[in-house]
Amino acid sequence: MVGVFLIFYGAVLTMSSTFTLHISQAKNTDPAEVCALRIIRSNFTDPMGNLKSWDNGDPCTSNWTGVFCATSNDEYLHIEQLQLLNYNLSGVLAPELGLLSQLKIMDFMWNAISGTIPKEIGNITSLRLLLLSGNKLSGSLPDEIGNLPRLNRLQIDENHISGPIPKSFANLRNISHLHMNNNSLSGQIPYELFTLPVLLHLLVDNNNLSGLLPPELGSLPNLRILQLDNNNFSGSSIPASYSNMTTLVKLSLRNCNLHGIIPDLSRMPQLGYLDLSWNMLNGSIPSNLAIYITTIDLSHNFLNGTITSTFNGLHRLQQVSLQNNQLVGSVPSSIWQSRAFNPNDTLILNFQNNSLTNITAADCPSNVTVLLFGNPLCINASQLNIVHLCQPKSVNQTSEGPTTYQNTCPPCPVDEHYERNPLSMSCQCSLPLTVGFRLKSPGISDFPPYMKDFESHLTSLLHLLSHQLYIESYMWESGPRLNMSLKLFPNSSSLFNSSEVVRLAGTLASWDIHISDVYGPYELLSLSRGPRESDSSKSRLSKGALAGILLGAIVGAASLSVMLTVLIMRKHPRYYSISRKKSSVTTLKLNNVKCFTFEEMVLATRNFCKSTQVGQGGYGKVYKGTLDDGRLVAIKRALEGTLQGSKEFLTEIEFLSRLHHRNLVSLVGYCDEQNEQMLVYEFMCNGTLRDHLSEKRNESLSFSKRLHIALGSARGILYLHCEADPPVFHRDIKASNILLDSKFHAKVADFGISRLAPVPDKDGSIPGYVSTVVKGTPGYLDPEYILTHQLTDKSDVYSLGVVFLELLTGMRPISHGKNIVREQLVQFSTKGIGCGYLWRQRQAYC
Ligand SMILES: *[C@@H]1O[C@H](CO)[C@@H](O)[C@H](O)[C@H]1NC(C)=O
Ligand SMILES: *[C@@H]1O[C@H](CO)[C@@H](O)[C@H](O)[C@H]1NC(C)=O
Ligand SMILES: *[C@@H]1O[C@H](CO)[C@@H](O)[C@H](O)[C@H]1NC(C)=O
Ligand SMILES: *[C@@H]1O[C@H](CO)[C@@H](O)[C@H](O)[C@H]1NC(C)=O
Repeated sequence: MVGVFLIFYGAVLTMSSTFTLHISQAKNTDPAEVCALRIIRSNFTDPMGNLKSWDNGDPCTSNWTGVFCATSNDEYLHIEQLQLLNYNLSGVLAPELGLLSQLKIMDFMWNAISGTIPKEIGNITSLRLLLLSGNKLSGSLPDEIGNLPRLNRLQIDENHISGPIPKSFANLRNISHLHMNNNSLSGQIPYELFTLPVLLHLLVDNNNLSGLLPPELGSLPNLRILQLDNNNFSGSSIPASYSNMTTLVKLSLRNCNLHGIIPDLSRMPQLGYLDLSWNMLNGSIPSNLAIYITTIDLSHNFLNGTITSTFNGLHRLQQVSLQNNQLVGSVPSSIWQSRAFNPNDTLILNFQNNSLTNITAADCPSNVTVLLFGNPLCINASQLNIVHLCQPKSVNQTSEGPTTYQNTCPPCPVDEHYERNPLSMSCQCSLPLTVGFRLKSPGISDFPPYMKDFESHLTSLLHLLSHQLYIESYMWESGPRLNMSLKLFPNSSSLFNSSEVVRLAGTLASWDIHISDVYGPYELLSLSRGPRESDSSKSRLSKGALAGILLGAIVGAASLSVMLTVLIMRKHPRYYSISRKKSSVTTLKLNNVKCFTFEEMVLATRNFCKSTQVGQGGYGKVYKGTLDDGRLVAIKRALEGTLQGSKEFLTEIEFLSRLHHRNLVSLVGYCDEQNEQMLVYEFMCNGTLRDHLSEKRNESLSFSKRLHIALGSARGILYLHCEADPPVFHRDIKASNILLDSKFHAKVADFGISRLAPVPDKDGSIPGYVSTVVKGTPGYLDPEYILTHQLTDKSDVYSLGVVFLELLTGMRPISHGKNIVREQLVQFSTKGIGCGYLWRQRQAYC
């Protein structure tokens, strides 16, 4: 475990400087904002405890998850970003959000927040990014949002928002991105929007908008993408003024109930994507389309006339869909004959269900698919030699799995989730950042020809080398949108350092980069480190990063480990250097100990339900859990924020992952996430030995069982002292640390304060004891250890002797102020059992 921290040591040093810098300002967050945050939080349901860090301290200086602050000139720190992407939050948005008066980024995307958008958000005049996509928000858009003079990006897509688009939005002088698709917005698109000087992307597809398409939008000076699919502008035609949108890159008005003719599109030199399908348009196919166009979908209309030479010389064309119209004449083979193809290029020409009667030449190359089913010329298919083109066929967009590469490198260590960068020549194993990335309104319809370009485009924007980005897979979704899983690999090291993680995550989450309009706007779905979040080192960072980049969480985790490492090293310089070396070995061996996610723990214990609690100690509570494979386990959940607990947590994992014996309890795994530390053990259904010795128990243990238990515990300790290498001093042997399984086999538990036995000195002699502060449980403590502070194996044996006395008498080691050793040994000696027994046992050993 310590080793896990050490992996991040370098990173940690970087972070700690930022961290101290933060502290040294000695300012706190504006009390009004702190208060607002607390109310905001209290309005959320946070089943995963993602906002636990909000329980304590100050938002800015204690690194609350998702809270980022700005330095300021006044006496307080102010909250500048609230980034809570993908945190499983439900509940509602509190009006107190409006009190975060210096907020620039508000990001609640991909949660399950319901209720309405509070109008008070309109008070945050500094707000630049308002990101609410992917929630369950309802109600209407407050007019007050229009008061935000700096708002650059409004994303409310994929919610249940209804009502009209407020006219006040015309005041958003700095808005570039209005993404409001997949809601229930109704009414007319307000013509007032035409005044928005820097509007680039207007996405309002999949709503209930109606009325006429406002001609005024034709004078939007900078509009690049206009996507209004799946609305009902019944009776409207496409205003002629839209011919004047000379900056358009994408025009998508699919299924909008539009009538009339298609206006002149010849003055749009950058138009790359045209979708006017599923309307009632008539007239002819537009001519003089931009030479960059990739996709033309005019299917399911009433278009007539011929497919003349309109599409000749369009070298980027990927798809022409003209099916289900009333087109006549010949299929012009010049479309593909006039075109130079690159190796990855494909072209789909879907002309099905028209009135086409001839084809100029039937010789199309293999990367061109021509579909002619349902045209009169298919009657003469065999004559024209086009039988294969006349089969009924639908064209499905394909998605692709990962490309596999030849690789002669040895496999990477399985337990660490390290991978090789498939694009790199080297055998370096590294931990990539996985990014869920979706193009919301791409200007292409076939990805492979653009993959290389996309990779180099995105990597240059992110200041990475092009081989550092690997597109693991992609999938077309309805929209169409292009959903990709990206992996960012460190260049030549095995890990990105934390400042790189923060930089990359921050860049992606704050839309600091502007990707080319060919790809349209992107959205960030997730961001995590490694393929699964079950490696502890990774999950620390991944959660941080996931959250959209929770500098806070990262710094929090990192600073915790700094504090721990520093504290531990300072406290025990000599022993730490030893166990550090050990623990890096341990880290490699950790493969039989699983790292669980917090979620898995929640599931196993039914959210730490009281009925699953089976014990409680100074360390925290113990729950009985069921893993998803059906295994019963005991889950020990550390009390929050106890550094003592944290240290014991590490020690326990370190020892138990290394020690295996049938009389030692076995560690199944651990969970170290979200400020929670849990240890997962095999479940011991008969509880602790102490339980069975108390008078409460009806059924008392038989003598043979007691003997069996005594032997078992002694074997466990013998193993620790004589077989483990290096030997271990348990330091806390007591009846409540001896657990009993279903057959009453004894297993020694709780290595939280255990210590390694001393290692040989330079001259080869072994000191035989460890000088240390006295720890353990009163009543079990070896008097010699108390006096000399020298811990030896014999101290454990003494404690075990006390346990034996308990076994024999059923008494507690100290009861009513009397010590069992003093009281009982006298009795035993008088009864002839021999006081020397314990003593002899303590002398001859190993
Ligand atoms: C948007 O709405 C359309 C139509 O209801 C649906 O097909 C599509 O899946 C939705 N898109 C998303 C991203 O939810
Ligand atoms: C396009 O813009 C020009 C100049 O602003 C204007 O004269 C013309 O009427 C507009 N065309 C349409 C169809 O609105
Ligand atoms: C079909 O087109 C070919 C080539 O242009 C032409 O030779 C032929 O006469 C045409 N057939 C009909 C029935 O028009
Ligand atoms: C982190 O990594 C980047 C890129 O590899 C490097 O430029 C930077 O100096 C590193 N930062 C630290 C503090 O190591």
